Order: sequence, then C-alpha cells, then structure tokens
Amino acid sequence: MFERPAAGERAILVQLDFGEGDVAERLDEFRLLAGSAGAVPIATITGKRDRPDPKTYAGSGKVEEIRAATILHGAELVIFNHELSPAQQRNLEKALERRVIDRTALILDIFALRAKSHEGKLQVELAQLEHQLTRLVRGWSHLERQRGGIGLRGPGEKQLETDRRLLGKRIAVLKERLRQLERQRAVRRKGRSRSEVLSVSLVGYTNAGKSTLFNALTKAGAYAADQLFATLDTTSRKLYVPSCELENGRSGCQIVLSDTVGFIRDLPHALVAAFHATLEETVAADLLLHVVDAASPDRDQQMRAVLQVLAEIGAAGVPQIVVLNKIDLTGVAPGVERDECDNIARVRVSAKTGAGLDLLRAALAEMSRKLAMPIIDKTTHPITEHDHRHSDVAQ
Ligand code: GTP
Repeated sequence: MFERPAAGERAILVQLDFGEGDVAERLDEFRLLAGSAGAVPIATITGKRDRPDPKTYAGSGKVEEIRAATILHGAELVIFNHELSPAQQRNLEKALERRVIDRTALILDIFALRAKSHEGKLQVELAQLEHQLTRLVRGWSHLERQRGGIGLRGPGEKQLETDRRLLGKRIAVLKERLRQLERQRAVRRKGRSRSEVLSVSLVGYTNAGKSTLFNALTKAGAYAADQLFATLDTTSRKLYVPSCELENGRSGCQIVLSDTVGFIRDLPHALVAAFHATLEETVAADLLLHVVDAASPDRDQQMRAVLQVLAEIGAAGVPQIVVLNKIDLTGVAPGVERDECDNIARVRVSAKTGAGLDLLRAALAEMSRKLAMPIIDKTTHPITEHDHRHSDVAQ
C-alpha cells in the first residue's frame, strides 16, 4: 500500500543546500539511496536557499526548473533529499504533475524492500503506517479548514475517518505482535547472558562493510551488497577466538557476534522507533565493533552520525572498538591503535582481503579477558557452530 518507485522508474533528484556543508557527499549518498530503492536517477537539481519555502519547500522558481527537467527527461518521479510536510508534498505533486517522495519515504521504502524476516517486515509496516497516519490526520484537518467544517461531513471525510480507523486498528495489532516478539527476544538474551559468552554487536554507517566483516569473522553467508541497508534483521552467530596469550592457541573465548541494521544520518524518527527492538540488541552488547568505511571522504561525519544514533538508543556507554575497514582502498597497513590507557581504540582491517583480521581476533580476545569473560579450553569444551536469525524463532 506504500508507494514505492517501481524498478527502473526514472527519477529527478532534488537536493537543496541550506549552508550545512558536505553537499557533495550528501548528494553521493542520495544517489545511492535512490538506486537502492530501485529508481534510476536521470537528473539532479540542486540549489541554495536560506530556509525551506513553507508551500513548496523549493520555492516557485526552483519548482519551475524541476518541472522543466521532468518534462525534458520524461521523469515519472521526483525525490527530495529532505523531509517534506504533507502540505508541501501535495503542493509539489500538483505543480509537477508527478509523484513526489521525500527522504523519509525513500528510506522507509528501502527498508520495505529489504526486510526479510517476519519481525523486520512488521517493524517496517508499522513505521510506514505511522508515517501515513500523520499524513492522514494532517490531511483531514487541512480539509476541515478548507471546508469550514459545518455540515460538510461528505464522503471524502468519511473515507478519511474510516481509513484512519483501519490504520489505527492495524497499528495496534502490529504493536502487540511486536511486543510479543520483544518478550521472546528478551528471554533469549537472558539465556545467552547466563552462558557468559561475550556478546559483540557490529554497528556502523550503512555500507561500511559490517556484513562483509561478519562473514569474514564467522564465515557465515550474511547478505553483503553495495546497496544501502542490505541488512535489516539482526543476525547472530557464535564464534570462537583463540586467546593470544595461552600457548598453542588451545584456549580462548566464545563470542556471540551480531550484525545489525546500518545507521544513517537523519534517520527518520519513525524508523528509530520501529527498529528499537532490533537496536536493543546493540544496547545489551558487552562490546561494540564500530565499523567505519575508512575510504569514504565522509567518514568523520558518518562516525558522528553513528555515535548520535547510539546515544539516542542508550548505547553510548557500551565499550567500543573502532574498526577502520577497507584499508585495501586506502593503502594503509593493518594495525592496532591504543589510547593513552593502553586500551585498544582502533583496528585497521580489510574485511574483503582479510588483512588485519588476525589482529581484530586478538583484540576481541583481549577485550574478552578485560571484560572478565571466562577462558574456555577448546579441548574440553568443543564449540558447536550455531547460527540463528532472530526472526526465525519468531515466525
Ligand atoms: P548495510 O547493510 O547497508 O548496513 O551495509 P554493510 O555495512 O553491512 O556493508 P556490506 O558488508 O554490505 O558492504 C558494503 C560494500 O562494501 C560491499 O560492496 C562490500 O563488498 C564492500 N566492502 C566491504 N568491506 C570491504 C573492504 O574491506 N574493502 C573493500 N574494497 N570493499 C569492502
């Protein structure tokens, strides 16, 4: 029911500059986002403004330019890399005679495409319905204002009221179902903490290489792709890290490694809420591996965006190691960087070539000792590889 760019739909991208800097990186990311949703960006319109125009966001001159471009290029869709109010979206659609999608809808749409598990699908559907509901409510009050409200309970309004009731009902059902799944997840987590394995979550900006690293460390087949938000469902897998201190690598520690959804700047709030259950996994971890695309010119901004999301979900206090990934592209040697207290702060690796992964395993073993996890003798405790996608249990 949510409008998605049909595969191959020709889209005009619009990004305005309000003097926030890093325009080029935002634009690159925007193109990748549009591509991940299946749209084909055929032209990009940019411009500078002091502030958004309340009616059309872009202002009438810019809207005219966009309109000319849609006609010239035969575009079916216009995507704004900004959040539009319902009224702005309506006004733009009217002026451009094309469908208009904003950044929130675009990201929600990618999430809808990617959600594989039962729980992931429910979460995305909930976020989409809530996004629509606010639009319906506002649309209704807008209508009311227009009509003066007296004796005008026409079919249009009745329909809106019915839609709103139906949406509300479905939202309540989804929330209850998700609450149940969350309870099941909490029970599983408790079971896991009783077994005293170190739980480590991979976090990072979308496309940083989390899934590739997850696969490289665990040799599991998590889905890795040069697309944004390839991973939506938290996948966990046990792995065994030989201790670097004990002889012959006979002993070491057990770790549960979880791959999580990618973060992005300006993550729509509806999504943070929707993915709260999934992200709770992150909060509950003993250690976070913050995976960074070291080759991205935008990496500092991306790191800041990740730290901000971590703070928002209450995970700012969880110990963290920064994993500077993709060093095969930067030409930097693998290595470990320590802070002034001799704690491991950063590890430089390439998940793709495997360079530095031995250092990362050693770092995990060291952290495991520091965080007082029991050392297990592999010869007396055979480790059975165990893999589950959380949602499988939920279905
Ligand atoms: P999301 O699911 O969007 O959060 O992405 P992710 O962080 O899981 O990234 P993913 O593992 O899907 O990798 C994104 C892209 O980066 C893929 O094309 C990978 O092949 C590539 N990649 C990952 N690690 C490396 C690396 O060390 N070097 C190079 N050159 N490419 C890498």
